[in-house]
Amino acid sequence: MAERINSALNSASLNGLQLKNRLIKAGTFENRSPNGIPGASLTDFHAQFGRGGIAMTTIGYCAVENAGRLNANMLTMHEDIRSEITQLVQNIQKQDCKVAGQMGHCGAFSKNHTLKARPKGPSGGLNLLGFAEGMWFCDAMSLDDIDHMVDAYRDAAIFMKSVGFDALEIHFGHGYGLCQFLSPLTNHRKDNYGGSLENRLRLPLRVLAAVRAAVGDDFPILAKITMSEGRRGGLHYDDSLEICKALDAAGIDAIIPSNGTSTMNPMLMFRGDSILPALLKYERNRIMRFLLRLMGKKMFPALPFYDMYLLEQAKRIRAVVKCKLVYIGGATSGDNFTEILGAGFDFIQLGRTLLADPDLPQKLAVDPSYKSRCTHCNLCVGTIESPQGIHCPQFTDNSAT
Ligand SMILES: Cc1cc2nc3c(=O)[nH]c(=O)nc-3n(C[C@H](O)[C@H](O)[C@H](O)COP(=O)(O)O)c2cc1C
Repeated sequence: MAERINSALNSASLNGLQLKNRLIKAGTFENRSPNGIPGASLTDFHAQFGRGGIAMTTIGYCAVENAGRLNANMLTMHEDIRSEITQLVQNIQKQDCKVAGQMGHCGAFSKNHTLKARPKGPSGGLNLLGFAEGMWFCDAMSLDDIDHMVDAYRDAAIFMKSVGFDALEIHFGHGYGLCQFLSPLTNHRKDNYGGSLENRLRLPLRVLAAVRAAVGDDFPILAKITMSEGRRGGLHYDDSLEICKALDAAGIDAIIPSNGTSTMNPMLMFRGDSILPALLKYERNRIMRFLLRLMGKKMFPALPFYDMYLLEQAKRIRAVVKCKLVYIGGATSGDNFTEILGAGFDFIQLGRTLLADPDLPQKLAVDPSYKSRCTHCNLCVGTIESPQGIHCPQFTDNSAT
């Protein structure tokens, strides 16, 4: 057993970046940067994972421009926070931990009241996140808007490399901006950016090319995708094979196959207890609370959790790409890690497991049979809206982070 677990704790390289083991903290939006300014709370949050022994942590949802933020407490990658974000990255790196930044853009849905115009996505319609707050609609992006979005990713990538990030993770999944282009449910365009999958991939691939050109060939870029939206007419597992092949051919260094979307089917991403009680606990908007009570049970059904719940579908991707593959979804123990690496994955991202056990790698080194104490109650998901920022309400002492 000890030998098998050690393979997860062995070092490995990702496009020249040496990682001391195969375990990476997954991006979990922290809500620890009030008004978009990173400081001690965000630093301490990530430093605890570094002290706990993981090889790399991921700063969740770094918006590439203000219009890409879901709310005004998200980070935007721009000059105004150069000194704070440089400090943040350096302080986490002092824990012998590399730092990745997840590049995000919310596209058509936003409740960011600092926006001067409606949010924009591939097609106009309802602003699914903002309508309860009076931001009713979203507009369709023009061709100039599309060029602008590519430039925003390029500029953010240049900025992020310059402040010391070790790797960039582009978010192509979970229903956010680039995923809205990939999905036939949200992309109804009649031009070269809509219709066939080849067309729907056009903007995401332009973004990848721009980020690659910005950071150079020898800088690690990861892609997080959604394998299935779990909705009729949406992206399905077979589509994700084609998306991964295209990303691989375009020079991505690693793919993280996740699942579901934040707006339409988040439980596919998490599994476990319904996130509804947690959302109701922290939601303050009266209309949103009413809508959650009305539709929440249908939108967020409990889905039985089982270890490595995305493994079988993710293995199909292993068979069609040459790039590195990062497993995500319910990896909770050394035995899980052994099985995942044995199936040909190169790294493992951990979300809730590390929220409950920030020092999991150290625990495993001492006790190879240790299994995470995370119960998949999903209360951590609600803490995205809590004043203290995300944490595991069951097991972590939030005052320490
Ligand atoms: C509190 C919380 C916040 C999350 N925020 C993000 C995010 O900002 N970006 C992202 O890609 N995924 C986000 N996720 C999804 C996780 O990265 C991961 O895909 C999911 O939790 C499944 O992995 P796990 O079983 O290891 O937790 C979040 C998950 C949780 C629990």
